Amino acid sequence: MELTHTTQGNLRVLRRQYFQIVNLEGLKWPDANILKTSAVQTWIYENLFDLDTVKSRPPERYQFRVLKKLVSIIEGAIDDPEEDEISNDLMSILSSLLSSNLSSESVSAQQKAFVTYTYSTRPIDGPASSNELPVTLLESRAVISSSGTTGLRTWEAALHLGNFLMSESGNEIIRGKNVLELGAGTGLLSILCAKYLEAGRVIATDGDEAVVDAIKTNIFINELDIPEGSSTRGSIESAALKWGWPLQATAFEEDYGVGALDVVLGADVTYDNSGIPLLVSTLRELFDLKSSVQVVIAASIRNEKTFETFINACSRNHFGTEEINFPTIPEDLQAGPFYPTTTPIRMLRITRSEGPRDPFSV
Ligand SMILES: C[S@@+](CC[C@H](N)C(=O)[O-])C[C@H]1O[C@@H](n2cnc3c(N)ncnc32)[C@H](O)[C@@H]1O
Repeated sequence: MELTHTTQGNLRVLRRQYFQIVNLEGLKWPDANILKTSAVQTWIYENLFDLDTVKSRPPERYQFRVLKKLVSIIEGAIDDPEEDEISNDLMSILSSLLSSNLSSESVSAQQKAFVTYTYSTRPIDGPASSNELPVTLLESRAVISSSGTTGLRTWEAALHLGNFLMSESGNEIIRGKNVLELGAGTGLLSILCAKYLEAGRVIATDGDEAVVDAIKTNIFINELDIPEGSSTRGSIESAALKWGWPLQATAFEEDYGVGALDVVLGADVTYDNSGIPLLVSTLRELFDLKSSVQVVIAASIRNEKTFETFINACSRNHFGTEEINFPTIPEDLQAGPFYPTTTPIRMLRITRSEGPRDPFSV
């Protein structure tokens, strides 16, 4: 039986959620009567669970929970067991997961797992799957990892800024430009710029050495590691950059050609009052090195006052701030990447405005 375009679209949304390890409660299941058909079960087996062909799979505990839920939905929809049944392939994966030694939810959340965020260029219900633009990252799902950093998982502000950069006006900011990302975390935005947005050179930076190493791994997973001797155009690399540390003194400027920079990105880097003066002083130094640099910051507004502190520091330094109006997509309409919209996300374009500068203000 041929799958309709709508069913294919719904299944692709489910697949994107599954590879992003979206919470079970948030999964968008196609109708139970559709799920019980053998063509759909075959599709789900081949695209989500087949061990021979499906790469970068979610943790086994998650696979098990999703499959168990699927089987229970199908069981509930079967009226005549002579006519409909649960696929043997799915049942055999379920029983092998059941007999494996699954780690507990809390242990599983601390372990690194493949998470795939899927962006797209065309409507989800088209027949082709060529509109899927995945970025697979090895990340920890814990909010703060056991090593104390927040940079080993991807945050909503980065996912939202990624959506903006994939839009026509966002793409214009990146295409052909040299990009530096501050507090890059897993490196999602830098990888998007290098992989799909035709950026020139991309430097993904973070202040935490373990995070910088994790970005290197993620660059490799996305097959963006540059063989030695190849042209640097379209290249991406990761580097340590701690806000507030003078770029010149650390030779960062020299090593990474900061003078040729066009764009600076930062997602969820304004969450902490104590980090703001440091971040702003790094921005100031970047503007000093190249005044035409364009900075784009995305922030989850967990605390209005903290974000105001950042905006005030920008204005004291004579940075121009302009709000980017790019609303979040309501969760029930999201087709990937998926992220909660309960906490507002604001995005600012920051430029250096002309005028007198106070060298001591931060
Ligand atoms: C909330 S995470 C955001 C990560 C990523 N941008 C995202 O949105 O998914 C904040 C990141 O900023 C980095 N960071 C915090 N303070 C820093 C500092 N003083 N210098 C450089 N990086 C810092 C952390 O290591 C972490 O990776």
